[in-house]
Amino acid sequence: MNHPATETIDVRLGDRSYQVVVGTALLDSLGERMARLNLGTFCAVVTDSNVAGLYADRVMKSLIASNFKPTLVTVPAGEQSKGFVQVKKICDAMIEAGLDRKAFVITLGGGVVGDLAGFAASIYYRGVPYVQVPTTIVSQVDSAVGGKTGINAIGGKNLIGSFHQPRLVLADVATLRTLPEREFNEGFAEVIKHAIIRDTELFARIARLDRGNLTPLIARNVAIKAAIVAADEHETTGERALLNFGHTIGHGIEAAAGYGRYLHGEAISLGIVAACLISQKHAGLSTADHEKIVALLRQFELPMKLPEDISTESILAALKTDKKFSEGKIRFVLTPAIGSAFLSDKVTLEDIRQAIEALR
Ligand SMILES: NC(=O)c1ccc[n+]([C@@H]2O[C@H](COP(=O)([O-])OP(=O)(O)OC[C@H]3O[C@@H](n4cnc5c(N)ncnc54)[C@H](O)[C@@H]3O)[C@@H](O)[C@H]2O)c1
Ligand SMILES: [Zn+2]
Repeated sequence: MNHPATETIDVRLGDRSYQVVVGTALLDSLGERMARLNLGTFCAVVTDSNVAGLYADRVMKSLIASNFKPTLVTVPAGEQSKGFVQVKKICDAMIEAGLDRKAFVITLGGGVVGDLAGFAASIYYRGVPYVQVPTTIVSQVDSAVGGKTGINAIGGKNLIGSFHQPRLVLADVATLRTLPEREFNEGFAEVIKHAIIRDTELFARIARLDRGNLTPLIARNVAIKAAIVAADEHETTGERALLNFGHTIGHGIEAAAGYGRYLHGEAISLGIVAACLISQKHAGLSTADHEKIVALLRQFELPMKLPEDISTESILAALKTDKKFSEGKIRFVLTPAIGSAFLSDKVTLEDIRQAIEALR
Protein backbone atom coordinates (compact mmCIF):
# COMPACT_ATOMS: atom_id res chain seq x y z
CA MET A 1 0.00 0.00 0.00
CA ASN A 2 1.14 3.51 -0.69
CA HIS A 3 1.01 5.62 2.44
CA PRO A 4 1.22 9.39 2.37
CA ALA A 5 4.28 10.76 4.12
CA THR A 6 4.67 10.66 7.87
CA GLU A 7 5.29 14.00 9.60
CA THR A 8 7.23 14.47 12.81
CA ILE A 9 6.88 17.49 15.10
CA ASP A 10 9.29 18.26 17.94
CA VAL A 11 7.86 19.46 21.21
CA ARG A 12 10.81 21.45 22.57
CA LEU A 13 10.82 21.35 26.36
CA GLY A 14 14.49 20.92 27.26
CA ASP A 15 15.09 17.54 28.88
CA ARG A 16 11.36 16.79 28.60
CA SER A 17 11.32 17.19 24.81
CA TYR A 18 9.59 14.58 22.69
CA GLN A 19 8.33 13.91 19.20
CA VAL A 20 4.82 13.68 17.82
CA VAL A 21 4.62 11.38 14.81
CA VAL A 22 1.60 11.83 12.53
CA GLY A 23 0.75 9.50 9.66
CA THR A 24 -1.05 6.31 8.65
CA ALA A 25 -0.34 2.67 9.56
CA LEU A 26 1.63 3.85 12.59
CA LEU A 27 0.01 1.50 15.12
CA ASP A 28 1.99 -1.45 13.83
CA SER A 29 5.25 0.44 14.25
CA LEU A 30 4.67 1.22 17.94
CA GLY A 31 6.87 -1.62 19.27
CA GLU A 32 9.80 -0.69 17.05
CA ARG A 33 9.54 2.98 17.99
CA MET A 34 9.23 2.14 21.69
CA ALA A 35 12.40 0.04 21.49
CA ARG A 36 14.30 3.19 20.49
CA LEU A 37 13.17 5.04 23.62
CA ASN A 38 15.07 2.80 26.05
CA LEU A 39 12.22 2.34 28.48
CA GLY A 40 11.58 -0.85 30.50
CA THR A 41 10.15 -4.12 29.24
CA PHE A 42 6.88 -4.20 31.16
CA CYS A 43 4.08 -1.83 30.29
CA ALA A 44 0.35 -1.25 30.62
CA VAL A 45 -1.71 -0.45 27.54
CA VAL A 46 -4.73 1.51 28.78
CA THR A 47 -7.67 1.80 26.42
CA ASP A 48 -11.47 2.08 26.54
CA SER A 49 -14.28 -0.34 25.73
CA ASN A 50 -14.89 1.13 22.25
CA VAL A 51 -11.28 1.34 21.14
CA ALA A 52 -10.18 -2.02 22.60
CA GLY A 53 -11.99 -4.08 19.97
CA LEU A 54 -10.78 -1.88 17.15
CA TYR A 55 -7.07 -1.35 17.80
CA ALA A 56 -5.77 -3.03 20.96
CA ASP A 57 -4.82 -6.22 19.10
CA ARG A 58 -2.50 -4.47 16.67
CA VAL A 59 -0.87 -2.46 19.44
CA MET A 60 -0.33 -5.53 21.65
CA LYS A 61 1.08 -7.55 18.73
CA SER A 62 3.44 -4.78 17.76
CA LEU A 63 4.73 -4.49 21.33
CA ILE A 64 5.14 -8.24 21.79
CA ALA A 65 7.00 -8.49 18.47
CA SER A 66 9.53 -6.02 19.89
CA ASN A 67 9.91 -8.08 23.08
CA PHE A 68 7.82 -5.91 25.38
CA LYS A 69 5.56 -7.46 28.02
CA PRO A 70 2.29 -5.50 27.81
CA THR A 71 -0.74 -5.80 30.06
CA LEU A 72 -4.03 -4.57 28.58
CA VAL A 73 -6.30 -2.51 30.85
CA THR A 74 -9.71 -1.54 29.47
CA VAL A 75 -11.88 1.12 31.12
CA PRO A 76 -15.51 1.84 30.18
CA ALA A 77 -15.76 4.38 27.33
CA GLY A 78 -16.95 7.84 28.33
CA GLU A 79 -16.17 10.88 30.44
CA GLN A 80 -17.43 9.16 33.64
CA SER A 81 -14.27 7.07 33.58
CA LYS A 82 -12.17 10.15 34.34
CA GLY A 83 -12.23 9.66 38.10
CA PHE A 84 -10.45 7.99 41.01
CA VAL A 85 -12.31 4.70 40.53
CA GLN A 86 -10.56 4.05 37.20
CA VAL A 87 -7.22 5.47 38.41
CA LYS A 88 -7.31 2.85 41.15
CA LYS A 89 -8.31 0.15 38.68
CA ILE A 90 -5.36 0.99 36.42
CA CYS A 91 -2.87 1.13 39.30
CA ASP A 92 -4.19 -2.11 40.80
CA ALA A 93 -3.90 -3.88 37.44
CA MET A 94 -0.32 -2.63 37.08
CA ILE A 95 0.64 -3.80 40.58
CA GLU A 96 -0.99 -7.16 39.95
CA ALA A 97 0.99 -7.55 36.71
CA GLY A 98 4.22 -6.88 38.63
CA LEU A 99 4.96 -3.53 37.03
CA ASP A 100 7.49 -1.46 39.00
CA ARG A 101 9.17 1.91 38.52
CA LYS A 102 10.87 0.68 35.36
CA ALA A 103 7.51 0.10 33.71
CA PHE A 104 5.71 2.52 31.42
CA VAL A 105 2.17 3.24 30.24
CA ILE A 106 0.69 3.49 26.77
CA THR A 107 -2.60 5.33 26.36
CA LEU A 108 -4.65 4.11 23.41
CA GLY A 109 -7.81 6.10 22.73
CA GLY A 110 -9.29 9.57 22.97
CA GLY A 111 -8.71 12.38 25.45
CA VAL A 112 -10.48 10.52 28.25
CA VAL A 113 -8.05 7.62 28.18
CA GLY A 114 -5.09 9.96 27.59
CA ASP A 115 -5.90 12.25 30.52
CA LEU A 116 -6.79 9.35 32.83
CA ALA A 117 -3.91 6.98 32.08
CA GLY A 118 -1.45 9.87 31.81
CA PHE A 119 -2.48 10.88 35.32
CA ALA A 120 -2.13 7.31 36.58
CA ALA A 121 1.37 7.20 35.04
CA SER A 122 2.26 10.46 36.77
CA ILE A 123 1.57 9.03 40.24
CA TYR A 124 2.41 5.32 39.82
CA TYR A 125 5.66 4.73 41.72
CA ARG A 126 5.78 8.57 41.92
CA GLY A 127 5.79 8.78 38.14
CA VAL A 128 6.58 6.40 35.30
CA PRO A 129 6.97 7.35 31.61
CA TYR A 130 4.04 7.17 29.23
CA VAL A 131 3.34 7.32 25.53
CA GLN A 132 0.18 8.68 23.94
CA VAL A 133 -1.49 6.89 21.04
CA PRO A 134 -4.46 9.22 20.41
CA THR A 135 -7.34 7.99 18.23
CA THR A 136 -9.73 10.98 18.08
CA ILE A 137 -9.40 14.38 16.41
CA VAL A 138 -9.54 16.10 19.82
CA SER A 139 -6.79 13.94 21.28
CA GLN A 140 -4.55 14.11 18.20
CA VAL A 141 -4.69 17.89 17.80
CA ASP A 142 -5.06 18.83 21.44
CA SER A 143 -5.05 16.63 24.53
CA ALA A 144 -2.20 14.22 23.68
CA VAL A 145 0.26 17.09 23.32
CA GLY A 146 1.25 19.33 26.21
CA GLY A 147 1.39 17.12 29.26
CA LYS A 148 -1.82 18.13 31.03
CA THR A 149 -3.23 15.00 32.65
CA GLY A 150 -6.10 14.68 35.05
CA ILE A 151 -9.47 13.54 36.22
CA ASN A 152 -12.77 15.17 37.16
CA ALA A 153 -14.07 15.91 40.64
CA ILE A 154 -17.52 16.68 42.03
CA GLY A 155 -16.70 20.40 41.76
CA GLY A 156 -15.88 20.30 38.05
CA LYS A 157 -13.87 18.94 35.16
CA ASN A 158 -10.11 18.37 35.29
CA LEU A 159 -9.77 19.72 38.83
CA ILE A 160 -7.32 17.01 39.89
CA GLY A 161 -4.25 16.40 37.80
CA SER A 162 -0.63 16.97 37.02
CA PHE A 163 1.76 18.14 34.36
CA HIS A 164 3.42 15.01 33.02
CA GLN A 165 4.85 15.15 29.50
CA PRO A 166 4.69 11.97 27.38
CA ARG A 167 7.86 10.46 25.88
CA LEU A 168 6.29 10.06 22.46
CA VAL A 169 2.96 10.72 20.76
CA LEU A 170 1.94 8.48 17.89
CA ALA A 171 -1.06 9.90 16.01
CA ASP A 172 -2.27 7.37 13.44
CA VAL A 173 -4.80 9.29 11.36
CA ALA A 174 -6.14 6.05 9.85
CA THR A 175 -7.78 5.34 13.22
CA LEU A 176 -9.99 8.40 12.65
CA ARG A 177 -11.91 6.50 9.96
CA THR A 178 -13.86 4.57 12.61
CA LEU A 179 -14.72 7.67 14.62
CA PRO A 180 -18.49 8.37 14.72
CA GLU A 181 -19.42 11.41 12.59
CA ARG A 182 -20.49 13.49 15.57
CA GLU A 183 -17.13 12.99 17.33
CA PHE A 184 -15.27 13.68 14.08
CA ASN A 185 -17.09 16.99 13.62
CA GLU A 186 -16.74 17.96 17.25
CA GLY A 187 -12.97 17.80 16.95
CA PHE A 188 -13.07 20.49 14.30
CA ALA A 189 -14.14 23.06 16.87
CA GLU A 190 -10.59 22.82 18.29
CA VAL A 191 -9.06 22.72 14.81
CA ILE A 192 -10.96 25.86 13.80
CA LYS A 193 -9.92 27.44 17.11
CA HIS A 194 -6.24 26.79 16.30
CA ALA A 195 -6.68 28.40 12.89
CA ILE A 196 -8.43 31.46 14.32
CA ILE A 197 -5.77 32.14 16.94
CA ARG A 198 -2.71 31.34 14.82
CA ASP A 199 -3.00 30.42 11.17
CA THR A 200 -4.93 31.93 8.24
CA GLU A 201 -3.54 29.30 5.87
CA LEU A 202 -4.86 26.49 8.08
CA PHE A 203 -8.24 28.25 8.14
CA ALA A 204 -8.39 28.08 4.34
CA ARG A 205 -7.21 24.46 4.33
CA ILE A 206 -9.99 23.33 6.68
CA ALA A 207 -12.59 24.63 4.24
CA ARG A 208 -11.27 22.30 1.50
CA LEU A 209 -10.71 19.34 3.80
CA ASP A 210 -9.34 16.15 2.21
CA ARG A 211 -10.57 13.31 4.40
CA GLY A 212 -8.38 10.87 2.52
CA ASN A 213 -5.22 12.66 3.62
CA LEU A 214 -5.59 14.10 7.10
CA THR A 215 -1.89 13.94 7.97
CA PRO A 216 -0.93 17.51 6.95
CA LEU A 217 -3.93 18.98 8.74
CA ILE A 218 -3.35 17.08 11.99
CA ALA A 219 0.39 17.78 11.82
CA ARG A 220 -0.17 21.51 11.41
CA ASN A 221 -2.46 21.55 14.44
CA VAL A 222 0.08 19.63 16.48
CA ALA A 223 2.75 22.15 15.46
CA ILE A 224 0.57 25.05 16.66
CA LYS A 225 -0.13 23.37 19.99
CA ALA A 226 3.53 22.33 20.37
CA ALA A 227 4.79 25.87 19.80
CA ILE A 228 2.39 27.31 22.36
CA VAL A 229 3.24 24.63 24.92
CA ALA A 230 6.98 25.14 24.35
CA ALA A 231 6.54 28.89 24.98
CA ASP A 232 4.44 28.47 28.11
CA GLU A 233 4.51 24.90 29.43
CA HIS A 234 2.77 25.58 32.75
CA GLU A 235 0.38 28.33 31.62
CA THR A 236 2.17 31.14 33.43
CA THR A 237 2.92 33.73 30.71
CA GLY A 238 -0.53 33.94 29.13
CA GLU A 239 0.55 32.33 25.84
CA ARG A 240 -1.01 28.96 26.60
CA ALA A 241 -4.17 30.75 27.74
CA LEU A 242 -4.79 31.72 24.09
CA LEU A 243 -5.86 28.09 23.58
CA ASN A 244 -8.88 29.00 25.70
CA PHE A 245 -10.38 30.99 22.82
CA GLY A 246 -14.12 30.21 22.83
CA HIS A 247 -13.74 28.24 26.04
CA THR A 248 -14.85 30.78 28.68
CA ILE A 249 -18.45 30.96 27.47
CA GLY A 250 -18.19 27.46 25.94
CA HIS A 251 -17.44 25.90 29.32
CA GLY A 252 -20.31 27.87 30.87
CA ILE A 253 -22.72 26.50 28.24
CA GLU A 254 -21.34 22.97 28.63
CA ALA A 255 -21.93 23.07 32.39
CA ALA A 256 -25.31 24.86 32.26
CA ALA A 257 -26.64 22.40 29.66
CA GLY A 258 -25.66 19.53 31.95
CA TYR A 259 -22.64 17.46 31.03
CA GLY A 260 -23.51 15.01 28.31
CA ARG A 261 -25.99 17.15 26.37
CA TYR A 262 -23.36 18.85 24.25
CA LEU A 263 -20.08 17.26 23.29
CA HIS A 264 -17.25 19.54 24.41
CA GLY A 265 -16.51 20.77 20.87
CA GLU A 266 -20.20 21.56 20.28
CA ALA A 267 -20.30 23.83 23.34
CA ILE A 268 -17.00 25.37 22.20
CA SER A 269 -18.56 26.13 18.81
CA LEU A 270 -21.16 28.27 20.59
CA GLY A 271 -18.39 29.79 22.70
CA ILE A 272 -16.42 30.67 19.56
CA VAL A 273 -19.42 32.43 18.00
CA ALA A 274 -19.92 34.42 21.22
CA ALA A 275 -16.19 35.25 21.46
CA CYS A 276 -16.36 36.54 17.87
CA LEU A 277 -19.22 38.88 18.78
CA ILE A 278 -17.19 40.27 21.68
CA SER A 279 -14.13 40.48 19.41
CA GLN A 280 -16.11 42.66 17.00
CA LYS A 281 -16.78 45.07 19.84
CA HIS A 282 -13.41 45.06 21.61
CA ALA A 283 -10.85 43.90 19.06
CA GLY A 284 -12.12 45.21 15.74
CA LEU A 285 -12.89 41.82 14.22
CA SER A 286 -14.51 42.46 10.83
CA THR A 287 -18.00 41.26 10.00
CA ALA A 288 -16.51 39.42 7.02
CA ASP A 289 -14.13 37.39 9.24
CA HIS A 290 -16.90 36.72 11.73
CA GLU A 291 -19.10 35.36 8.93
CA LYS A 292 -16.28 33.19 7.59
CA ILE A 293 -15.83 31.63 11.03
CA VAL A 294 -19.54 30.93 11.41
CA ALA A 295 -19.65 29.38 7.93
CA LEU A 296 -16.74 27.08 8.72
CA LEU A 297 -18.34 25.90 11.98
CA ARG A 298 -21.54 25.24 10.01
CA GLN A 299 -19.59 23.10 7.52
CA PHE A 300 -18.94 20.67 10.41
CA GLU A 301 -22.56 20.81 11.57
CA LEU A 302 -21.51 22.47 14.80
CA PRO A 303 -24.21 24.37 16.73
CA MET A 304 -24.35 28.15 16.69
CA LYS A 305 -27.80 28.78 18.17
CA LEU A 306 -28.56 28.39 21.85
CA PRO A 307 -31.88 26.70 22.77
CA GLU A 308 -34.33 28.62 25.00
CA ASP A 309 -34.26 26.11 27.85
CA ILE A 310 -30.64 26.90 28.67
CA SER A 311 -30.99 30.26 30.42
CA THR A 312 -28.45 33.04 30.19
CA GLU A 313 -28.42 33.26 34.00
CA SER A 314 -27.53 29.59 34.37
CA ILE A 315 -24.64 30.03 31.93
CA LEU A 316 -23.37 33.11 33.78
CA ALA A 317 -23.65 31.27 37.09
CA ALA A 318 -21.66 28.32 35.73
CA LEU A 319 -19.11 30.64 34.21
CA LYS A 320 -18.41 32.41 37.49
CA THR A 321 -17.16 29.17 39.02
CA ASP A 322 -14.62 28.93 36.17
CA LYS A 323 -10.93 29.07 37.12
CA LYS A 324 -10.49 32.14 34.86
CA PHE A 325 -13.01 34.10 36.94
CA SER A 326 -11.71 33.16 40.35
CA GLU A 327 -9.84 36.40 41.08
CA GLY A 328 -12.80 38.53 40.07
CA LYS A 329 -11.01 39.71 36.94
CA ILE A 330 -12.05 38.39 33.55
CA ARG A 331 -9.22 37.39 31.22
CA PHE A 332 -10.88 36.87 27.88
CA VAL A 333 -9.27 35.74 24.62
CA LEU A 334 -10.17 37.97 21.66
CA THR A 335 -9.33 37.79 17.96
CA PRO A 336 -8.77 40.99 15.95
CA ALA A 337 -8.63 38.97 12.69
CA ILE A 338 -8.49 35.32 11.64
CA GLY A 339 -4.96 34.14 12.45
CA SER A 340 -4.26 36.04 15.66
CA ALA A 341 -5.49 36.38 19.23
CA PHE A 342 -4.66 38.16 22.46
CA LEU A 343 -5.66 38.16 26.09
CA SER A 344 -7.81 41.11 27.18
CA ASP A 345 -9.01 42.40 30.53
CA LYS A 346 -11.47 44.83 28.92
CA VAL A 347 -14.35 42.36 28.58
CA THR A 348 -17.14 42.88 31.10
CA LEU A 349 -19.79 40.54 32.40
CA GLU A 350 -22.33 42.67 30.51
CA ASP A 351 -20.46 42.03 27.22
CA ILE A 352 -20.63 38.34 27.95
CA ARG A 353 -24.34 38.50 28.79
CA GLN A 354 -25.10 40.28 25.52
CA ALA A 355 -23.03 37.81 23.49
CA ILE A 356 -24.89 34.88 25.04
CA GLU A 357 -28.24 36.56 24.30
CA ALA A 358 -27.14 37.10 20.69
CA LEU A 359 -26.76 33.32 20.29
CA ARG A 360 -30.56 32.89 20.49
N1 LIG B 1 -5.19 17.30 28.47
C1 LIG B 1 -5.59 18.25 27.67
O1 LIG B 1 -4.85 19.18 27.38
C2 LIG B 1 -6.97 18.18 27.08
C3 LIG B 1 -7.32 18.99 26.00
C4 LIG B 1 -8.59 18.85 25.43
C5 LIG B 1 -9.46 17.90 25.94
N2 LIG B 1 -9.09 17.13 27.00
C6 LIG B 1 -9.99 16.09 27.54
O2 LIG B 1 -10.22 15.15 26.51
C7 LIG B 1 -11.48 14.50 26.75
C8 LIG B 1 -12.23 14.45 25.44
O3 LIG B 1 -11.49 13.69 24.52
P1 LIG B 1 -12.20 12.97 23.28
O4 LIG B 1 -13.07 13.95 22.61
O5 LIG B 1 -11.16 12.28 22.53
O6 LIG B 1 -13.22 11.98 24.01
P2 LIG B 1 -13.21 10.41 24.29
O7 LIG B 1 -11.90 9.93 24.74
O8 LIG B 1 -14.36 10.16 25.19
O9 LIG B 1 -13.52 9.78 22.85
C9 LIG B 1 -14.77 10.04 22.24
C10 LIG B 1 -15.50 8.74 21.89
O10 LIG B 1 -14.90 8.13 20.75
C11 LIG B 1 -14.55 6.78 21.01
N3 LIG B 1 -13.37 6.52 20.18
C12 LIG B 1 -12.11 6.96 20.41
N4 LIG B 1 -11.33 6.69 19.34
C13 LIG B 1 -12.10 6.05 18.44
C14 LIG B 1 -11.88 5.54 17.14
N5 LIG B 1 -10.70 5.69 16.53
N6 LIG B 1 -12.89 4.93 16.49
C15 LIG B 1 -14.12 4.84 17.10
N7 LIG B 1 -14.40 5.33 18.31
C16 LIG B 1 -13.40 5.93 18.97
C17 LIG B 1 -14.36 6.73 22.49
O11 LIG B 1 -14.53 5.43 22.99
C18 LIG B 1 -15.45 7.69 22.97
O12 LIG B 1 -16.67 7.02 23.00
C19 LIG B 1 -12.16 15.33 27.83
O13 LIG B 1 -12.12 14.60 29.03
C20 LIG B 1 -11.34 16.58 27.93
O14 LIG B 1 -11.33 17.12 29.24
C21 LIG B 1 -7.87 17.25 27.56
ZN1 LIG C 1 -11.39 22.40 24.26
